[in-house]
Amino acid sequence: MFKNPVFCAIDTPEIETARTLAALAGPHVGGMKIGMEFFYAHGRAGYEAVAAAGKPVFLDLKLHDIPNTVASAVRALGPLAPAILNVHASGGRAMMRAATEAAKNIGTGMKLIGVSVLTSLDGTDLEELGVKGSVCDHVRRLGALARDCGLDGMVCSAHEIEILRAECGPEFLLVVPGIRPAGAAAQDQKRVMSPAQALECGADILVIGRPITKAADPAKAAMMIAREIEAVRR
Ligand code: C5P
Repeated sequence: MFKNPVFCAIDTPEIETARTLAALAGPHVGGMKIGMEFFYAHGRAGYEAVAAAGKPVFLDLKLHDIPNTVASAVRALGPLAPAILNVHASGGRAMMRAATEAAKNIGTGMKLIGVSVLTSLDGTDLEELGVKGSVCDHVRRLGALARDCGLDGMVCSAHEIEILRAECGPEFLLVVPGIRPAGAAAQDQKRVMSPAQALECGADILVIGRPITKAADPAKAAMMIAREIEAVRR
């Protein structure tokens, strides 16, 4: 689906910085990712500033509400035509079904993917929330439910690729953040993987932010990552 699997996470509060980063990274990545902080601050204008780079956009808004509200939100976002949009799988079956239906009716081929367990949560947090079993068990359960509801894939940590691939099959789109190319600092990411390793494990899309956006030369950093990927794909 995406020839270049790298989606650059444009995490900045500044619309002009976002436009510049997207223009610099654009020629060397497969797409852009924007999240709720940037979208809540800049809305449609912010989206368009990033989309102007001409690449598909992953709108990472992690929708989570009752089915009717989430379906309405998906419809409201339709005119922006993001390539990928996500909802929390823990919103449940009816919510994911309503979101899938709404996404299909938009007719732009938008992929709707689920968020499983936030990587900021561990086993103790899940226990406190009344969730039984390990984080892996819960990721597997949410993956199976998301697939049953017709979602196209899941955001997951590199360490969950194998579980979800086994549970949800080869067509399920696995979108993976926490990626660090050789030599890049991990920053606050605790369990990182290189682009090559993550692709080897079965990732479809790699979300990479600071190794590109905080580099002295973002275009060069994105190009080096693209080269690293081409080398392993040859
Ligand atoms: O800068 P970095 O490469 O760490 O950016 C990763 C991006 O992916 C950020 O936008 C971050 O919010 C997002 N993300 C993540 N871990 C998750 C889900 C999303 O790092 N579990």
